[in-house]
Amino acid sequence: MSLHFIEVENLARTFPQPGRQPPLTVFEHVNFTIEKGEFICVIGHSGCGKSTILNILAGLDAASEGAFVMDGKEVSGPSRDRGVIFQNHSLLPWLSALGNVSFAVRARWPEWSRRQVREHSLSYLKMVGLAGAEHKKPSELSGGMRQRVGIARAFAIEPKLLLMDEPFGALDALTRGVIQDELLEIWGRTHQTVFMITHDVDEAILLADRVMLMTNGPDARIAESVVIDIPRPRDRSAIHQHPEYYTIRNHLVDFLITRSKSLQGRVGGPGQQPRSVNPVRGTGVPDPGGTPRVVGGTG
Ligand SMILES: Nc1ncnc2c1ncn2[C@@H]1O[C@H](COP(=O)(O)OP(=O)(O)OP(=O)(O)O)[C@@H](O)[C@H]1O
Ligand SMILES: [Mg+2]
Repeated sequence: MSLHFIEVENLARTFPQPGRQPPLTVFEHVNFTIEKGEFICVIGHSGCGKSTILNILAGLDAASEGAFVMDGKEVSGPSRDRGVIFQNHSLLPWLSALGNVSFAVRARWPEWSRRQVREHSLSYLKMVGLAGAEHKKPSELSGGMRQRVGIARAFAIEPKLLLMDEPFGALDALTRGVIQDELLEIWGRTHQTVFMITHDVDEAILLADRVMLMTNGPDARIAESVVIDIPRPRDRSAIHQHPEYYTIRNHLVDFLITRSKSLQGRVGGPGQQPRSVNPVRGTGVPDPGGTPRVVGGTG
């Protein structure tokens, strides 16, 4: 019996390279655990392997090494206990917005009546602000609207693990804020476990219980697991006034500016969890050079 809802052990992904070049190790020694109901954000520079990790968790790509255990079972291949929202929406072009959501809902609950499927699907389309556009095909929707259909589809199947790859990147600031609030509301209600990639430090502080920070690739690792203990519910318009906000924000930004590079290929190892850091309490906070000042608990 495993102790954690999700355990990722020694994950590595290599890709063959053309000619006689050695294989490219995108990341290795990736170890982390996630508890049930936790909201995790992942931040790291472009190309470090965030989407690749997410695709492995989704069962859409296979790790070169390592294991992913969810709910005590080793996972391989996709299944409906994991819902995915991709960096770019991936809708079925021949189905309407409603058709795309109900297709997934019907597959998830085959015993439901047509009416149940329709009502459930419509409620999620309404949530993302698409009531009235449900009969439009993806080609008739804007990029942001298509992304919202993808978001509605993933939420609608109420998966045990929601995997999101920069889900709000293509949305305008207003819609993004509305959907962030909706996401927090649904997450608070359903106790889903969320693993979300974002480039937006402020979004991560608003949403996450912990932010995992990845070093640059190749040979990327997860270097730190940063605890965000700003109390919930969090208010998007006032959170930056919280006394802890800028301590956390500076820590994340410093990582992206300096430690993501200085620690590249230098942290972690087989079975080693990322350093657990609480910037507010000062536990586990590394020196700029990367050596720990106070060693915190394990991740
Ligand atoms: N099929 C593939 N063959 C070879 N290399 C690949 C393949 N898929 C991904 N890579 C490489 O793996 C690395 C990580 O890619 P990935 O898409 O996971 O990055 P990312 O962290 O999500 O970046 P971004 O923030 O830009 O989305 C990149 O260097 C990419 O070129
Ligand atoms: Mg990506």
